[in-house]
Amino acid sequence: MYLKCNNGNMARSSNAFLILLPTLALAFFAAAIGFLHSADNNEPPAAASASASVSSGTLTPEQVAAANAAVEAAKAGRGDAPNLFVAVCSQCHGEKGEGKVELKTPSIAGLPEWYSKIQIGKFRQKIRGQSPEDTNGMIMHTVAQSLDDAAIEGVTKVIADLKLVPMQNTLGGDPDKGEVIFRERCMECHRYNGRGEMAFHSAHLIGLQDWYIISQLRKFRGGVRGSIPADVDGGKMHRITETMKDEQFIDVAAYVAVLAEKYADEKPRRRRPYQRLVDEAEADTKPAPEADAK
Ligand code: HEC
Ligand code: HEC
Repeated sequence: MYLKCNNGNMARSSNAFLILLPTLALAFFAAAIGFLHSADNNEPPAAASASASVSSGTLTPEQVAAANAAVEAAKAGRGDAPNLFVAVCSQCHGEKGEGKVELKTPSIAGLPEWYSKIQIGKFRQKIRGQSPEDTNGMIMHTVAQSLDDAAIEGVTKVIADLKLVPMQNTLGGDPDKGEVIFRERCMECHRYNGRGEMAFHSAHLIGLQDWYIISQLRKFRGGVRGSIPADVDGGKMHRITETMKDEQFIDVAAYVAVLAEKYADEKPRRRRPYQRLVDEAEADTKPAPEADAK
């Protein structure tokens, strides 16, 4: 039995997958929708257990079972990245990695390898998704815990190769106001093109969805993400968003959608992908030799 993968490769699947796959697909939907509801009510969630499985007071037995099933599927898929993507990641992030608003999952299609490697590592070490208030982050924490280094190495290559879906302005923000905010407060780290910068570990923004960007900015502002000492990079975002309002988040996301339209096809080179951008930025800040001579 073979599973057809996104990139057209055929990968051998184990028997465990055959049983898990259909169950997983359904369970994930039920679980993720349940998670969203639990995130909406204001009951203080019980602390998540420190073990590999999720056992939080806010989760139903079905949700716990689904999250654990993801862990099992992830283990079964080890060493075969396209298969792992299809069996595990695509269940929540979509078959093209495009993300799903109903499951609150970001588009991961085209995320640079270095960025997703850092983030999956943070989820795995509970530096991200550690707060009991962050139910969506906790889901990804559970998945990441089941991945070893080789699996992360492989699967981040697979998602980097998926076609980036440029961000759309769906929330009606004002891109002109957003541009001012972006230039003053965001561009130094996320670059003129919103593609992030490996040297700063700053996120690649233009393939994300606007609602996801806003949800993350709110999490940073509230300290749900980026407030523990181990999260040095998240801490930067916490300080930047602390004084910002929702309206500014929506406007800045609208401007990122403008950048997405402009720069989505500017495919970074596969090896040392950001070096050219770094070089260009440096060249910009240096006075031209002719100017010196005058
Ligand atoms: C059970 C659902 C689920 C599965 C399965 C899942 N994810 Fe996620 N993932 C999420 C959610 C929800 C988030 C958003 C977390 C947040 O809000 O901070 C996320 C976030 C991420 C992020 C962070 C993106 C960013 O822009 O910071 C990456 C990278 C990621 N997932 C990769 C993967 C990979 C690779 C797999 C497969 C091995 C996978 N996910 C499987 C639910 C899932
Ligand atoms: C000092 C550098 C810096 C500045 C300035 C900055 N960021 Fe960030 N940003 C980062 C870093 C580093 C990360 C990655 C954080 C992490 O590892 O969790 C990040 C992450 C993010 C994320 C999370 C993306 C994801 O995939 O989950 C969003 C959204 C974001 N920044 C938007 C903004 C916006 C909007 C501004 C301006 C208002 C801004 N940032 C200003 C450095 C910066």
